[in-house]
This record gives sequence, C-alpha cells and structure tokens, in this order.
Amino acid sequence: YKIITTKSLIDMKANGEKISMLTAYDYTMAKIVDSAHVDVILVGDSASNVMAGHETTLPITLDQMIYHASSVVRAVNRALVVVDLPFGTYQSDPKTALHSAIRIMKESGAHALKLEGGKEIKEGIKKILGAGIPVMGHLGLTPQSIYKFGTYTVRAKEEQEAAQLIDDAKMLEKIGCFAIVLEKIPAKLAEQVAQSVSIPIIGIGAGGGVDGQVLVLHDMVGMTHEFSPRFLRRYMNLFEDMTQAIGKYVTDVKSKDFPNEKEQY
Ligand code: KIV
Ligand code: NA
Repeated sequence: YKIITTKSLIDMKANGEKISMLTAYDYTMAKIVDSAHVDVILVGDSASNVMAGHETTLPITLDQMIYHASSVVRAVNRALVVVDLPFGTYQSDPKTALHSAIRIMKESGAHALKLEGGKEIKEGIKKILGAGIPVMGHLGLTPQSIYKFGTYTVRAKEEQEAAQLIDDAKMLEKIGCFAIVLEKIPAKLAEQVAQSVSIPIIGIGAGGGVDGQVLVLHDMVGMTHEFSPRFLRRYMNLFEDMTQAIGKYVTDVKSKDFPNEKEQY
C-alpha cells in the first residue's frame, strides 16, 4: 500500500493482513512512525496523559486535539491519520458532535475520527458519517468513562456487558464505521467480535484474534515507565536511555568537555 485509506484497512482484513497502529501527537514523532510504515496513526486523547500530564483523558480540549492533529498531519505521507474526539465534544447531541467533527477535519486535515461508545452515541456517529467523515468506533475500556467504571481493569468479563459489546460492534458496522478499537477485554470475546463483523477490529489488550493492534507510542518505546499493564510490549527503554544521555550531557557541560574545539565557530 502506497498510501493508506479506510478502504485499504478493510481490504487488509479481507486478505488476512494484520493492521499496525500507533499513537503520535507531534510532528517529529509522527515523521518517525510514518517512516516505519505504521498503517494508522492515532492522535489519541491519551495526549492528555502523555503530553500534558493529566491523570485522565477528560481535560483535553478540542483546540488542543486540533493542535496535536495538525502537527501530525504535516508529518505524514503514508499513514491514515485518525483523531480522537475529546470528552464533552460529542456526547450531548448529534449537532454538537457534527460541529466538533467538522472543526477537527477542517482545522487539522485529519483523515478520520474516533469516538468512544456504542448505542448511547449512535445518532451522533450517524450525523458525522452523513457528512462524509469516516468514523472509527471504540468499545470496551473507554477511558473517557473512567469515572463510571471506577477502575482501569478489564471490561466485559460479565455476560451482560459482553453481549452489549457485541451488539454495539454490529451496530457500528451497520451504520457505516470503517473500523473499531477494542480496549482491554478478554481475548476470546475480542476474537468473537472480529469474526462477527467485516470491518477491522483493532485491539489494545484484546489479544491476537483481532485484525490489528494499537499501542501508545510513548509506552512501546519505554518513554513512560510508571505504566506497565500486561498487554504492553516495550521495544525500547527510552526513559532510561534518555536519562543517561542527558546525564552525560550535564556532566560534559559541568566538566567543560562540551563543547570541544570542533563544536564551535
Ligand atoms: O487515546 C488513545 O491512545 C487511544 C488508544 C489507546 C486506542 O484511544
Ligand atoms: Na483515546
């Protein structure tokens, strides 16, 4: 695939090719992620935690998401750029949802949007889709509802919540979403959902029986280090490596080793 579209992702599922997705919130990181041929770049509202240091995703604003998204869009040549609609910008009514969606699309140049929830936000999603904006669903552990859940543990372990999740996934497919993220649910349930819809299911903490995987970039390169859920595979330990490198820089400045003769004019 030379450039990734929502259609490419649906084709990948049909062909059994797994979809790779990572977050990015800024130009420089997005350049790296896109260069590594990640299929989908998510400008996640996890920027609230990762970039701004908030405890939850709730405080990040539409303007802040647009700032992150436009930075990412400027960097990307190949990946599909999906942006989270932040908390409070789509739940109240479909008109508000569409207004927020249009602002992100117009002001950032993003390719698609992601919204958390199922039947509660069905009408809002339909309104956005009706404007020609591709929508990715997000079910399971939806962090914008953390105060309803009370905990970040695995969702849909109970029969009733699992049944509702399957219904919601089928509904999202039916109204026209192009993919769904499933976060932190039993692998068996996630696989069952992936088999019961034809749109791609992208998992985080949802096992290997789905159509693709997503992780938070800063977690998978080990820049964040206080967060270690079981589903997270760390490919680097950048927190330690960067701390060491920066420590070395401090030492070199203090000892007058830096700059040397060649490092000046
Ligand atoms: O905001 C985010 O990073 C996300 C992913 C974890 C799916 O929504
Ligand atoms: Na998110």
